[in-house]
Order: sequence, then C-alpha cells, then structure tokens
Amino acid sequence: MYDFKAQPGADPAELYRDLCAAADALTAGEPDAVANMANVAALLWEFLPDLNWAGFYRVAPAKDGAADELVLGPFVGRPACIRIPFGKGVCGTAAESRATQLVEDVHAFPGHIACDAASRSELVVPVLRNGAVVAVIDLDSPSPARFTPADAAGIEALATLLAERV
Ligand code: SME
Repeated sequence: MYDFKAQPGADPAELYRDLCAAADALTAGEPDAVANMANVAALLWEFLPDLNWAGFYRVAPAKDGAADELVLGPFVGRPACIRIPFGKGVCGTAAESRATQLVEDVHAFPGHIACDAASRSELVVPVLRNGAVVAVIDLDSPSPARFTPADAAGIEALATLLAERV
C-alpha cells in the first residue's frame, strides 16, 4: 500500500519537496508513461487542496497525422476535452511557448477552454525533454487566484523530475 500524504501546515516549499519525493518514489525505474502519469495525477490530487482537475495532456499526433497536438492523458476530475491544438487555450499556450502559464482568472484569458464550468484559475507547466515539450501538467481550481509563483516553482520541479518518465 502507498500512503503518501501532505503534512498538515506544511509551507509550499516543504509541500512540493514532499510531493516530488513521493512522485520520485512512485515513478523511479518504471518505464510505463501512462502508469507514471496516473500515479502523479493521484498524488497531485492528494497533496494539493482546492483543485477540481489535476492531470496531464501528452504531445501526440493529430488524428490526420498532420501535426502534433495535446491529447488528454491520465487525470483526476471531471471528463475533459480530448484534443487541444498547440497555441489554443491555456494548455496549448504552455505547449507552444514551452513556458508555465499561471492564470489567476481563466475568464480573462483569451481562448481559455472551459472543460469544467467550475474552474476559475489554472496552472499549466510544460514537461520538456531535450528542450522539446512532451506533455503538460494542468491544475484547475474553483477558486480565483488559487495558484502562486510558489505553486509554479513546485510544479516546474515536478515536471523536471518527470522529463524522462512520461
Ligand atoms: N482549460 C484548459 C483545458 C483543459 S481543462 O482545464 C482540463 C485550457 O484552456 O487549455
């Protein structure tokens, strides 16, 4: 049995240190990307309060094979849009720019894709391997301005850890 839990009252640096340590323990030596993303989505849900969606979009070929796009991966939350082109929405913007998107108010983000009407703020971090984006980590919250630069730094550390594992 795995029993990873956030320490009550932990500050963000400690919280993300523990989250990354748990993710490291669960994914080390496991080559299956789907299993690793599934367990990390579950960990994000366990460790981070006030979320309504936590998970991955992977870079994969479009249905017509013409270009890569983001395709839904393992997650916790309500069913979500399956395919997101690069440059579209918060996730597609993170993938295209290869830069973290910290959105305090999703209604103010041009082109935001509303998968769950309850979402009010969002954090999307690209996972880069050899400089290329291979996936994004997406967190949604029903609270406005839920995510801080400390959350962005913590999820970026997680993305670095996962670069070769997803
Ligand atoms: N809101 C995202 C779409 C994915 S869902 O939030 C799970 C976006 O604008 O890219």
